[in-house]
Amino acid sequence: MTEVVKYSIRKAFGMQDVPEKVTTFGFAPSDDPYIPSKDETYVFRKEFIREVTAFLKNPFGDALYVTGPTGSGKTSGITEIAARLFWPVQQITANGRMELTDLIGHHALVSPKPGEPPVMQFMYGPLAVAMKKGHILLINEVDLADPAELSGLNDVLEGRPLVIAQNGGEIIKPHPMFRVVVTGNSTGSGDASGLYQGVMMQNIAAMDRYRFIEVGYPDEATELGILGRVAPTLNEGIRKGMVKTANEIRKLFVGENGDDGQIGVTMSTRNLVRWAKLTLQFRGAPNTLKYALDQSLLTRTSNEEGEAILRIAKDVFGDLWR
Ligand SMILES: Nc1ncnc2c1ncn2[C@@H]1O[C@H](COP(=O)(O)OP(=O)(O)OP(=O)(O)O)[C@@H](O)[C@H]1O
Ligand SMILES: [Mg+2]
Repeated sequence: MTEVVKYSIRKAFGMQDVPEKVTTFGFAPSDDPYIPSKDETYVFRKEFIREVTAFLKNPFGDALYVTGPTGSGKTSGITEIAARLFWPVQQITANGRMELTDLIGHHALVSPKPGEPPVMQFMYGPLAVAMKKGHILLINEVDLADPAELSGLNDVLEGRPLVIAQNGGEIIKPHPMFRVVVTGNSTGSGDASGLYQGVMMQNIAAMDRYRFIEVGYPDEATELGILGRVAPTLNEGIRKGMVKTANEIRKLFVGENGDDGQIGVTMSTRNLVRWAKLTLQFRGAPNTLKYALDQSLLTRTSNEEGEAILRIAKDVFGDLWR
């Protein structure tokens, strides 16, 4: 079994303004295939690091619910943190048909060696593995899950062992490093905006077991930092223009009062990163900025929305928009 070790937040996440003595823990470095691979250019937000590491260090019996708009850095934020703490992650994405057995495991016919006749074997699901080995169970888009199925998790969220009836009543006790983190665009109370298809209202008793943190789109300085890391050779004026354009699009999307947006798509950090990368890739082509914007966002929009977005970009870029 791998050893649990302390990590300095300052060193592990390159946060120069955090005192050296602030620590969290994780596992000793290993090549466990479930440890997420890390993106060296990833830009961390201090508050997010603080909240997530506080949870990982001491969950006090809670699970963690990370909520926020699409492409804001929820999933990657968690896997990038886990990567630096060498904490293996069992990751799945929920949908309306997900059942508890998908998480626990099932019997399957498995050939011990290629060509040999198959034998029945119990295949442990991500929940069972995470509980046994002390991994993080990361359920993405949790609010797409059927609330009745999700409520089946309540017992283990409370620290009780998992009993696998299908496998001869096997009992799996939770490893002290077992954690549950979920992400979703809503907060489990349904989707009031109507933007997220398939979001279900979750059971209030199930939601009561989570600690919530919100991840919005990063502020301008952080997004400039992200673009500086993913597309360092792109002209700085262009990077600034991209972040400004993204923020103007978000304003139009949200509207003045938060619910009267004029367009139905927005520019996520994911889109922004894609826009910058494609602009570099197509450098030299005529009007690269527009070409890359088409591919990263505009193709998904209606004509009017596309025109509104193009107007914003032209205004922001001025002479640079060629
Ligand atoms: N802080 C960051 N540094 C670098 N890249 C980032 C950062 N935040 C987001 N990104 C980029 O945005 C992409 C999307 O992030 P992520 O998958 O974490 O979003 P999400 O919030 O989980 O979205 P969804 O709700 O659609 O699941 C990442 O793959 C990465 O390219
Ligand atoms: Mg995600």
